[in-house]
Parts: sequence; structure tokens; C-alpha cells
Amino acid sequence: MSERVEIRFPHKTVEVPVFVGTEGEKAIDVSNLRAESGYITLDPGFVNTGSCASDITFIDGEKGILRYRGIPIEVLAGKSTFLETAFLLIYGHLPTITELAEFTNRIRRHTMLHEDIKAFFSGFPRDAHPMAILSSVVCSLSTFYQNENRPENELMELNTVRLLAKLPTIAAYSYKKSIGQPFVYPDNSREYCENFLHMMFSVPSEEYHVDPDHIDALNLLLILHADHEQNCSTSTVRLVRSSMGNLFACIAAGICALWGPRHGGANQEVIEMLEHMRAEGGNVKKYIELAKDKNSKFRLMGFGHRVYKNFDPRAKIIKGACDKLLNKLKRHDPLLDLAKELEEAALQDAYFVDKKLYPNVDFYSGIIYKAMGIPVPAFTVMFALGRLPGWLAHAREYTHDPKNKIGRPRQIYTGEMQRDYIPIEKRG
Ligand SMILES: CC(C)(COP(=O)(O)OP(=O)(O)OC[C@H]1O[C@@H](n2cnc3c(N)ncnc32)[C@H](O)[C@@H]1OP(=O)(O)O)[C@@H](O)C(=O)NCCC(=O)NCCS
Repeated sequence: MSERVEIRFPHKTVEVPVFVGTEGEKAIDVSNLRAESGYITLDPGFVNTGSCASDITFIDGEKGILRYRGIPIEVLAGKSTFLETAFLLIYGHLPTITELAEFTNRIRRHTMLHEDIKAFFSGFPRDAHPMAILSSVVCSLSTFYQNENRPENELMELNTVRLLAKLPTIAAYSYKKSIGQPFVYPDNSREYCENFLHMMFSVPSEEYHVDPDHIDALNLLLILHADHEQNCSTSTVRLVRSSMGNLFACIAAGICALWGPRHGGANQEVIEMLEHMRAEGGNVKKYIELAKDKNSKFRLMGFGHRVYKNFDPRAKIIKGACDKLLNKLKRHDPLLDLAKELEEAALQDAYFVDKKLYPNVDFYSGIIYKAMGIPVPAFTVMFALGRLPGWLAHAREYTHDPKNKIGRPRQIYTGEMQRDYIPIEKRG
């Protein structure tokens, strides 16, 4: 018989079922608790609340484990490509040679944007944040693909491919817009990451050779960002999908959620923090003290994680990749030295040790992006390109779940109790 636990209330005891995951994680299923006891559970920030059961990604934050569909992130980082990892996340298994070729070819055939979309770009101010452009243009794709008379499954499939194919083009166009260069059309003879770098950095008047080390580094970073179970942006995507929102609207909402500095926006903030520190003389100790000071709003960006209470396994891989890329490019970045110094100082400080605050995925990724020539405001866009397969996989999983329900949390009201309406002339 499956496990059950008793919850004792002043007026009665209620027995609730325990849900057990494949890795032995346990959850108390409270879905009938209110009906049976009159109580709801309260958990601001969903610190201890599972919003769903999911087959996609497993994280053990205490041990620093991350697996996509059962495969450790370290293995995928060493052996896979971004599109293969995307296939794995979305369809649940590693593709055969034929499946991967078909998937890749379908994506290749959808990389262009409708020519009218270019007009959207000219409407944005030159200094618009690229995340704002990305989410707006992704949402506007729904206006180009509406009223399509296809079965729901077929539409989900097609829009999945469209999004994977077009996001790099939109991202590259938003960069070109910001620097006033002409848009570079996708070149479908190129592989996914190479094509993106080509659209970002080539100009029609000159030949451009994409550095293979940059392609490898980008491929790695996109794999590492591809999914991270029920984070803020993924939960947003699932929530929008739960109202039966269209896939473009779901992904646009995910992009907006990712933008904030507590989530994907942290990679931009890390570099800005390191640059600021360097400009001020590189006094690491001062910033460690500032991060500990409860009267200051300053936090060590790229440090800490809701789930990881140990090293973020992605941060370890990125740190290694960062060293490797800079060595290969024979480039020295003083920000990397500063980041390492900061990490060392934080990991020896009782505040960070006691609170289990370790470097997260964003701590070193910006240094690689910088070495590749990606402008700092576009760092979070790179995160979005990587996270897209995860968002798509979760939207799909939600859609195919026969028990899915609209996401609608409850609350405990703490405002005024019923009171009288006082006519305006009588208000004091
Ligand atoms: C990621 C993050 C939002 C997680 O938040 P959370 O799980 O809600 O944890 P909290 O914000 O409650 O932090 C727990 C404690 O550690 C402290 N803390 C967390 N991250 C910190 C940081 N980067 N620098 C200094 N102190 C930090 C908090 O002040 C809090 O201290 P308290 O218990 O004395 O109040 C948080 O660690 C953070 O803001 N990090 C910096 C931004 C970042 O790198 N985000 C990218 C995540 S991949």
C-alpha cells in the first residue's frame, strides 16, 4: 500500500497520500487538504512546494547533481550538441542518427523571420534592452501564425521547431539593431551555434570566419542552460500554458521572467559588478563585507541558489571552460582573476559557508560571453537561447498531462474586513 501521513489539526486528523518520485523524493499531496480540514498551506516563494510531477530534469541541490532525462549534465557537456540535448529534453530520449538529422533539418528550414517582422525592429529605440526586444518579437510571432487550421499536436510540433529556429535570428537581429548594422540572414548551411555567431558578427561587406572555439564554447553554454526544472521562468511558462495560452505567448512570458537580476539577469549583473569592483581598485574584501551587511542591498551576484546548497555543477564546468577558452585564445581577462579571487574569499568566509552560498551558473558564464564578443546587455539573451528547449519541454509535458489544471494558487487575505463606503464629502 502506498505511504500516507497524518496531519493533526485542532479539530481533526487528516490522512494524506505521499507521492514518491523515481529518485526517492517525497511529497505530501495536499490537494484535498482544504476540503478535508478547512486549511490551506502557505509557502511564499514556493520554497517547499512542488507545483507538478515532471519527468524532465532531476536536481539534488545538496549533492550538486543535475541530470536531463536521467543523463548527468557533465556527460552531456562533454559529449552532446545543443540540438541533440534539446531533442532529449523535448522528446524524452536521445535521438537516433535519423531522428537527429530530421530534427536538425526541420529547424534549418525555419530560421528566417517573416520580412514584415523587420519593421518591428525599426520601431524599437536603439538602446532598447535586448530581452525586451526578444520577448516582444517572440510574442508578436503569434500574430504571424494565427488561426492555423491544424490539429493541436501538429501545431505544438511546428511551433516548437519555429521557436528553436527563429530565436537565434531574433537575438542576432536585436544586436544588429543596437549597433546600427544591417541584419544578416541566417545561412542554413551552417550548424546552429555557428549560424547564430555568423548572424551576430558578420557584415555583408566582408568575409567572416566563425572561430571554432567560439562555436564549441557556445554549444557548451547552451547545453548547460537548457533546463533547470521548476525555476521562475519555467514555472511562468507552465502557468501561462495552463490557461491554454499559445506557445509563443508562453515563451515570451518565460523570457520576461528570466530577465530579472535574481534569475537570468544575474549574468549581466556579475560582469557589471566585477567591472565596478575593478574600477574601484579590486578590493574584494570590501565587497564581501558589503554583501554581508544587512543594511546594504548589495548581494554578491552569481552567488547563491534556491536549490543548490553545494557547488552548482554547471558553475564548475563553466569555470573550467572559461580557463580553457581564454588560454586557447591567448587572452588574459583581469575580470577572471578578480572573479576567482572573489570566489576564494567568499568560500572561506563564515557567512557564505554557513548559508551554503556557492558560485552559480551565472558567475563565470559572462566572462566566456565577453571573450566571444557578446555585448554585456545580451548575456541574458544567451541564457534564453539555452533555456528554450527546457521551456518547450515543460510546456509540452504540461499539455500532454491528462490531469493538468489551470495554475491558480490560493492566498490568505490580510486586508481590511468588510467596512462601509463613506461618501467623499464626509471623508476626513
Ligand atoms: C539566487 C537567489 C535569488 C536565491 O534566493 P533564495 O533561495 O530566496 O535565498 P534568500 O534570498 O532567502 O537567501 C538566503 C540567505 O542568504 C543570503 N544571500 C543569498 N544570496 C546572497 C548573495 N548572493 N550575496 C549575499 N547574501 C546572499 C540572503 O541575504 C539570506 O540571508 P538571511 O537568511 O540572513 O536573510 C539569491 O541567492 C540571490 O539573490 N543571488 C544573487 C543573484 C543570482 O546570482 N541569481 C542567479 C541565480 S542562478
